[in-house]
Amino acid sequence: MRFSTLSSKKILLGVTGSIAAYKAVELVRELSRQGASVTVVATKNAGEFIGAVTFHAVSGSAVYTDLFGMPAEPAPHINLPRQADAVVIAPATANFIGKMAHGIADDLLSTIVLAAQKPILVCPAMNSAMYEHPAMKGNLEQLRKYGYRIVEPETGPLACGDEGPGRLAEPSTICEAVKIVLEKKDLQGQKILVTAGPTEEPIDPVRFISNRSSGKMGDSLARVAKRRGAEVVLISGPTCLSKPWGIEFVPVRTAAEMYKAVLSYFDWATIVIKAAAVADYGLSTVLPQKLKKGTPDLSLKLTRTPDILKELGKRKKRQILVGFAAESKNLIAEARRKLQEKNLDLIVANDITVPGAGFGFDTNQVNIITADGEVFDSPLLDKEEIAYIILDKVLEVLQRSRGKS
Ligand SMILES: Cc1cc2nc3c(=O)[nH]c(=O)nc-3n(C[C@H](O)[C@H](O)[C@H](O)COP(=O)(O)O)c2cc1C
Repeated sequence: MRFSTLSSKKILLGVTGSIAAYKAVELVRELSRQGASVTVVATKNAGEFIGAVTFHAVSGSAVYTDLFGMPAEPAPHINLPRQADAVVIAPATANFIGKMAHGIADDLLSTIVLAAQKPILVCPAMNSAMYEHPAMKGNLEQLRKYGYRIVEPETGPLACGDEGPGRLAEPSTICEAVKIVLEKKDLQGQKILVTAGPTEEPIDPVRFISNRSSGKMGDSLARVAKRRGAEVVLISGPTCLSKPWGIEFVPVRTAAEMYKAVLSYFDWATIVIKAAAVADYGLSTVLPQKLKKGTPDLSLKLTRTPDILKELGKRKKRQILVGFAAESKNLIAEARRKLQEKNLDLIVANDITVPGAGFGFDTNQVNIITADGEVFDSPLLDKEEIAYIILDKVLEVLQRSRGKS
């Protein structure tokens, strides 16, 4: 990827004495892969779980553990957070969270937390009983009051054999949370509804009609909009993607469900981006029993599903409405027709015959057309970078519409 929120960012990663400390290694790799440079500060007890050599090898720099005794760095608790863009504590033990909540500074990492004037993210990891203890709830509440961001643990099987809340959030989730903290907030105040993925139109209890949409374009748009400060709702058909962190997620299956969900959020939204590949046709009556193999040929009668975008175009008051057009011929002419017919403010056209663009790929190449007739052609880029470009254009349209009103 050519562009990343984490490019050239400096992250101070604090690792404490949890069984999940090994996952911090993966986190260092993920942050570094996305362009950040990572300095690891580990508590003495973290060293019981994972050695400094491992962190040194993956981060490329020495690991800090001691407050005293470093002639080259006489005040590491002041200088290290000063050089960082954000401080991430992952995993954060119950003990360390307790120390942070009460302002205790008895080792390098806890002193750094007190001295840091940078965003602080805390990623708890512990046994469920510890996590659900009233002391922990109170301590986390206190950290929220200090303005620290909590990346809540996941629920699932724990290292001790128990099952419940307490598993350290996945490194990809922690990375996303760091991006949300560090990204510029030029979409603050906007309420953005994004649709993504395919729909599934059932034929019988086991079969359905669908398409190859992976949901990646809509997912990237939702994540990037959230990072840029918008409140985001993502309505998605069935995909293999995980639910994005910090975003209200509404799963749907059919075009009819998508229609209902989109309309229920329409009045709330200031911007609507319809990136979903909604089926145009479905069976009006779903077969109640599994269709048996019989005659050599089979005809199914398909009927039109509701045209969601057209309906939104009719109901539109103040919203900026963005549609997508995936075409295999006459791309620009078809996209312009759709833009006018559906009363859109902007349309993102993509030629699905271009190698690497459109359905199922991680990359896309788009032509963005505005209602004012402007056309912008993007190169073939990662879908996340395309999402930044689309949202830049949406912002321009929004600013122009404000200028007119
Ligand atoms: C095998 C083992 C696993 C542990 N895992 C955790 C854990 O996941 N979370 C936690 O809060 N404490 C855990 N502890 C307890 C902490 O290591 C202990 O509270 C320690 O004082 C934390 O030190 P620190 O916060 O300074 O790193 C574990 C202890 C052992 C022996």
